[in-house]
Amino acid sequence: MTVAQAAAGWVPALTAQQMGQFKRDGYLVLPGALDAERCRQARDDMWEAIATYLPRMKRAEPSTWGPISEDENAALLARKPGGGDPYFGGKGHRFYIRNGAEQAMLNLAPRAMWQIAEQLLGKDTVVWPAGADDTGTTTGPCFMSDDAITGLASHLGDTLGQPEKGSFTTQHELQLPATGPVWLTGQGTRGLYCTLPDSPDPGPQYTSAHSDGACYGRWRVQMAAYTDDLPDRSGGFTVWPGSHTRIWKEQWEAFLDGEKHTDTHLETRRAGGYNDPVIDQIKADTAPVDCHGPAGTVVLWHTKILHMAGQNCSADVIRQATIYGFMKTPASLPDPLVTDRTNLDPWRDWSEEIRNL
Ligand SMILES: [Fe+2]
Repeated sequence: MTVAQAAAGWVPALTAQQMGQFKRDGYLVLPGALDAERCRQARDDMWEAIATYLPRMKRAEPSTWGPISEDENAALLARKPGGGDPYFGGKGHRFYIRNGAEQAMLNLAPRAMWQIAEQLLGKDTVVWPAGADDTGTTTGPCFMSDDAITGLASHLGDTLGQPEKGSFTTQHELQLPATGPVWLTGQGTRGLYCTLPDSPDPGPQYTSAHSDGACYGRWRVQMAAYTDDLPDRSGGFTVWPGSHTRIWKEQWEAFLDGEKHTDTHLETRRAGGYNDPVIDQIKADTAPVDCHGPAGTVVLWHTKILHMAGQNCSADVIRQATIYGFMKTPASLPDPLVTDRTNLDPWRDWSEEIRNL
């Protein structure tokens, strides 16, 4: 599907008030924004995948939706198609389906939000999610930073023969299998991320709260879209309002001081890791918000905001979310600018409309 073909299913543009809310809070909830029929299809497809990979779970019997055992996890891991992650994987209360580069999932969420992504980031400056071609291959640009290399290695093994260190330049036509880390090239969502009922309490310290990825790179806006009704306290995207600009500033200052970002030091990083001083400050002075809503609800967030997947306290709801990061194109954000933020301005790469608010 091309941009023009996708236009029919677009979610309407944000109002000035919504734009202001996004800029101030760093996130915005659009209740039931996506097409109901596409959401229904996504739910049917999810249950079809469950029938194939985890048939002990029955759609009409929530009592069968218990956590995924170690043995089940090992069996799922063994079912790998050629390259990338298993199509269906999971452990404990979380499971995923790597369908993010499929046309239906792209039409459902990122393409439906295209008008809004361009409204936020600027027209013709966002990487179009073309998804997988007939051979199951995706092609898109990737800024080869250290954390991108780590991400490629963890989802592909070393099949690409990537070096351990990033070049901090763009590989313009990186090819990845459909079940690979297609979000690194903007070509797919992360697939469907699900949380089973009665998931563990994250504890008062919210130890899994984090900020995604590095401050450098080309992601600016991310989205989580719910394909089923999601009540309060059922595993919704949980966010700390206003934390986006605070983390942005800290992380850039750390980077400009010479600290790079890799997943291996997520736990002990100066800014943006699980236990960094700025994260502790935000948790101490800001109450988290659980973003919930009916099927088709979209949560948009500034890529640096503090967040986590919430606890699913329900007995009969599976939290079903597809997650996508909108990236600036290399043409609109050339390599030298990707790692240059000496002015620390969080909105430099955004549309005039949002910059002028
Ligand atoms: Fe995250």
